[in-house]
Amino acid sequence: MAKKILVTGGTGYIGSHTVVELQQAGYEVVIIDNLSNSNADVLEGITRITGKRPLFDKLDCTDMDGLKALFRKHTFDGIIHFAASKAVGESVQKPLLYYRNNLLSLINLLEMMPEHKVKGIVFSSSCTVYGEPDSNPIDENAPIKPAASPYGNTKQINEEIIQDFIHSGAPVKSIILRYFNPIGAHPSAEIGELPLGVPQNLVPYITQTGIGIRKQLSVFGNDYNTADGSCIRDFINVVDLAKAHVKAIERMLEDQSDEPVEIFNLGTGTGLSVLELIALFEKVSGKPLNHQIVGRREGDIEQIWAQPDKANNVLGWKAEMTVEDTMSSAWKWQLRLREKGVM
Ligand code: WQD
Repeated sequence: MAKKILVTGGTGYIGSHTVVELQQAGYEVVIIDNLSNSNADVLEGITRITGKRPLFDKLDCTDMDGLKALFRKHTFDGIIHFAASKAVGESVQKPLLYYRNNLLSLINLLEMMPEHKVKGIVFSSSCTVYGEPDSNPIDENAPIKPAASPYGNTKQINEEIIQDFIHSGAPVKSIILRYFNPIGAHPSAEIGELPLGVPQNLVPYITQTGIGIRKQLSVFGNDYNTADGSCIRDFINVVDLAKAHVKAIERMLEDQSDEPVEIFNLGTGTGLSVLELIALFEKVSGKPLNHQIVGRREGDIEQIWAQPDKANNVLGWKAEMTVEDTMSSAWKWQLRLREKGVM
């Protein structure tokens, strides 16, 4: 009997790619999503890749009655919790929305787990919890710094909620995955990053500029203390990232660890600057990218990249795709969106 996994936020960017990898690893998947930042059409793309249409309910994780009905309908072996508001800038403007949505969603899910005997929850966290690192690469023991935004603070508080809940004796396990910068799209170009409105993140803004939807990319500062003055990030392929979630679910459901809570940094271990990534895009697309240097963006970290040894050696996962191939997948996805008339 296939194990059944609840994926919250499963029509989103990382969620949808994780659903594909879960299905291809033999899991049955149920997606819930409130579609506030994604489109149910993603289900068609997932089905075209795997041949299996995941079950889907439009549901908001802050809706406890809705969750109770869902847990009466299904018996879940595990949960992967992606559903959250995630725009750093927006969180500064709308902190209460972020605290209510991101904290209450997790609290509701945790509360359901013991009575429904759900064994474990994989939590989607972020390198944002580290703030501006004292040094790089950064491992899981690096100090947690005061968050630079309400969004980052909700990730920190969520991790504490999980730790405290399990410390109180709750019969559940958790694996917390701290992502660095997820980019790219599934190689089939059937699913990818599709932010609603003007992209906040770098790569969708690059590809939308490359295809002419956006006039020009603004590079937020080249006066940082880095080789070319632009910020440095650890850009990780979204399919590699999705595969790490399957490893985490397996680790929990097959009791591969005695630790009730484990934390893993998910990155390539290599830092790349914004300007280097732009140059890479120009190489893979074969065209210059119209961009200009502007002032710094408030809240940006200067440089951060992962020390992925723990994920490599304990979780048994390693990033495989090169950033060049990843940028090619992002560009192929953008071209497919134009072919389909989506944008
Ligand atoms: C990367 C770099 C910008 C846009 C955030 C969250 C993280 C995760 C990913 C949700 C920065 C520069 C960007 C642009 C630019 N969020 N940039 N022009 O801020 O590293 O991470 O998004 O899962 O938790 O913290 O990602 O892509 O916004 O920015 O110059 O138009 O690109 O200044 O240096 P970030 P990003």
